Amino acid sequence: MTDLTHSHKKPTLWARHKIFETNSIIMIIGVLIVISIGGLVEIAPLFYLSSTIERVQGMRPYTPLELAGREIYVREGCYNCHSQMVRPLRDEIERYGPYSLAAESMYDKPFQWGSKRTGPDLARVGGKYSDEWHVQHFNAPRALVPQSIMPGYPFLAQRPLDADHIVGAMQANRVGGVPYSDEQIANAVSDLRAQHDPEHPGAEGFQRRYPKALQRDFDGDPRTVTEADALVAYLQMLGTLVDFKVYDNKANFR
Ligand code: HEC
Repeated sequence: MTDLTHSHKKPTLWARHKIFETNSIIMIIGVLIVISIGGLVEIAPLFYLSSTIERVQGMRPYTPLELAGREIYVREGCYNCHSQMVRPLRDEIERYGPYSLAAESMYDKPFQWGSKRTGPDLARVGGKYSDEWHVQHFNAPRALVPQSIMPGYPFLAQRPLDADHIVGAMQANRVGGVPYSDEQIANAVSDLRAQHDPEHPGAEGFQRRYPKALQRDFDGDPRTVTEADALVAYLQMLGTLVDFKVYDNKANFR
């Protein structure tokens, strides 16, 4: 009897694994392949499951003035100190209100969930304070909240809003998936003024294009549309579009 076990020696598992353990580049490539398979399995289904973003009534794209306010929010880096996501934890819900739904940030490109709360969460700040409170708070946070460490933004109420770029901003959002209609884009500049002044010529279609939008002068200076007008319009609508009296967080609509 000849012993075949030694003559046809296959490499052991260790010997094959040695390729990875002794060569860092191959190891890194191997790790990347394994991790990306794991990532794909987790993430890919989310793009196909209809339950990823639940349908809720009331969500609409931002009005031109709100969108301009959102851009100022991003420009000033408010997200460095403020989150916009109420987590489904009891203490958060008691403090801020119903937890955030994915649908509530579906028109946020990019989203403003933030990662740090130096100040409070702002996802449901709409309607919490008066417009005047916000303007004074931007001018001098410590005049209202003595222990505040928020920086002042007194220039916002002085600076006229640059309304000319709003059409481009809406078009860019549309490319990113926000369903702005041709009509909304064609009326952008006029709608921006109509939200600030309900008497503005051409203001008729505004409420139809943006249901529930607040229409008024926000910063106490009706002559000019300022950056403060835009930012306050944005803050005052945050978290107000979905009616949580009729939306049941657990199921759908009652
Ligand atoms: C350095 C961190 C910091 C930055 C940057 C900052 N904030 Fe704040 N913010 C705070 C803190 C702290 C508070 C709580 C004290 C207070 O009300 O001033 C606060 C409070 C607020 C509140 C009141 C929230 C509530 O529910 O009482 C609003 C609204 C607000 N900030 C908006 C903004 C906006 C808009 C910007 C950007 C223009 C901004 N903040 C930038 C720290 C910051």
